[in-house]
Amino acid sequence: MTTRHDPEAPEGVDLERPNVARVYDWFLGGSADWAVDREFGTQVLKQFPEVETFARVGRDFLGRGVGYLARQGITQFLDIGSGVPTVGDVHRIASAIDPGSRVVYVDIEPVAVAHSQLPLEREGLLGRHAVLQGDVRDPADIWKRALETGVLDPRRPIGLVMVGLPYFLGPGEPVHELVRRYLDFLPSGSYFLSSHLTEDGVTREEGDNRENVQELYKKTSAPFHLRSRAAFAAFFDGMEMVEPGIDWMAAWHLDEADSRASDRFAGDPTLTGGLGGLGRKP
Ligand SMILES: C[S@@+](CC[C@H](N)C(=O)[O-])C[C@H]1O[C@@H](n2cnc3c(N)ncnc32)[C@H](O)[C@@H]1O
Repeated sequence: MTTRHDPEAPEGVDLERPNVARVYDWFLGGSADWAVDREFGTQVLKQFPEVETFARVGRDFLGRGVGYLARQGITQFLDIGSGVPTVGDVHRIASAIDPGSRVVYVDIEPVAVAHSQLPLEREGLLGRHAVLQGDVRDPADIWKRALETGVLDPRRPIGLVMVGLPYFLGPGEPVHELVRRYLDFLPSGSYFLSSHLTEDGVTREEGDNRENVQELYKKTSAPFHLRSRAAFAAFFDGMEMVEPGIDWMAAWHLDEADSRASDRFAGDPTLTGGLGGLGRKP
């Protein structure tokens, strides 16, 4: 596995530590990873053999959420913690429904930024879409730079996406205030699509040692943190929840698309430990 030829690293890439964006890409079958990421991913797989299916469930949830929004007439998206484009990227899903759709991608990891930029450049899609490197912890900076791209019209509803992201913010961080800051920027009629990891109501199967996974992630660029269902639901305070409200990612709007990864959890969607929700700003 480690003998595979590693890609050239963009400037600023930390190859000393496993990086959560690159490891996630490896779980999804992508190629934006280095030996340090693959070795780490292999350790995770030993503790939580379902992790690849779990990553796929998260990606499918993102796709169903964006597809739903595009069908509601949302044509512009701000996708923070967007990751390495692998399968089901936001601009592809949105453009398949409305070819005029616009997306600003934001990620903290230079590899995710470079890999998002390249296909957009190659396909001549920059201008209608943009990619920024930034930290979700700085809403004023992200919002200002997202508008400076000229991609988003702040007078029209925007789909704000933070899928697979807020659990990288620690218990000491003002995660609810952060989400609120972003929501305050958005015009009425905008939506917020998000997901979170939890232990609330989660059942386990044999060989599932996910607390060891959390321990392992302390060695990465971004350790993750679980939150209760109530704490996740509070991200959406004051919003109109799209039915069925907060639900397991593996179950949310399952009828809307091909979701083979979620089918794996059809009997017990709690097994993923992943919650998802979509709210509309009144
Ligand atoms: C688990 S991946 C999710 C990718 C994508 N949203 C999805 O659902 O498939 C998490 C992404 O969040 C990014 N990330 C982590 N901490 C971040 C931060 N503080 N600001 C912006 N992005 C961050 C990581 O680099 C990674 O690409």
